[in-house]
Amino acid sequence: MGLIMESSKSNQSLPWVLVNVAMTADGKIALANGSYAPFGSRRDHDHLLELRATADAVMCGARTADSFPVNLGPGPAKYRRLRQKRGLAEYNLRIIVSGSGSLDPEAEIFRHRFSPIVILTTSSISPARLKRLQELADEVKAFGQNKLNFPAALRWLKAKYGVKRLVCEGGGELNAALFQQGLVNELHLTICPVIFGGRTAPTLAGGIGIKNLTDAEQLKIISMKRVGEEMFLIFHRREDISA
Ligand SMILES: NC(=O)c1ccc[n+]([C@@H]2O[C@H](COP(=O)([O-])OP(=O)(O)OC[C@H]3O[C@@H](n4cnc5c(N)ncnc54)[C@H](OP(=O)(O)O)[C@@H]3O)[C@@H](O)[C@H]2O)c1
Repeated sequence: MGLIMESSKSNQSLPWVLVNVAMTADGKIALANGSYAPFGSRRDHDHLLELRATADAVMCGARTADSFPVNLGPGPAKYRRLRQKRGLAEYNLRIIVSGSGSLDPEAEIFRHRFSPIVILTTSSISPARLKRLQELADEVKAFGQNKLNFPAALRWLKAKYGVKRLVCEGGGELNAALFQQGLVNELHLTICPVIFGGRTAPTLAGGIGIKNLTDAEQLKIISMKRVGEEMFLIFHRREDISA
């Protein structure tokens, strides 16, 4: 898949943010009990690695990092070579969001030391949790008091680590915070041919949701492709698209 060019309307001080998510035909991204259940195809996994190979950094929320065996890395050598051909570092920066520092220190990601791990937190983190995470991550940085101030965090990531393009891989709470603050430029959505049900099963954007229809993030469909039994959709934020 080719790189999608950012429009001149995008905010130059912020990275271009892509959210990548696999969703069931009934709109869920996980089982209602939250247990780990990869349900996308091999093709969907390749798409995840292809997207990572276009980005300076890959990010996820604390619950995704500690409930999934994820390492957020570039994967096999062919993707690392692709990154280098594109002028990117061989290994992407890895970012975990954990506002209260509840992230499990035993999470799989800390067993893989191929590139820096940055934890974004808030000033509400307790000194004990802060110390514990500082021992595990390469950098722990606070933005905001209770909820993370994402615009400030993203500006900092761009200025300090040169993050121009960032892939967010969920979960629903983190995605919702980014959508709510108008920070998602691009959504990659794979619709998988399964039904999970469960009224509490997470969706691609959780949080408390908007109060008025006028507050809804407006997207435009950029591409739509069927591969096997899955649909691969790409949306852009409407305001990024030149009239
Ligand atoms: N199908 C897919 O593509 C896909 C992808 C990823 C995950 N998932 C599923 O999604 C579920 C996990 O998602 P989730 O929504 O429960 O959790 P999540 O978004 O992965 O992580 C939530 C945690 O991230 C931190 N966080 C998120 N937004 C924040 C904000 N605005 N300010 C401060 N901290 C913030 C908080 O950590 P603290 O608690 O430390 O404050 C929060 O508890 C799992 O069931 C997983 O299976 C599915």
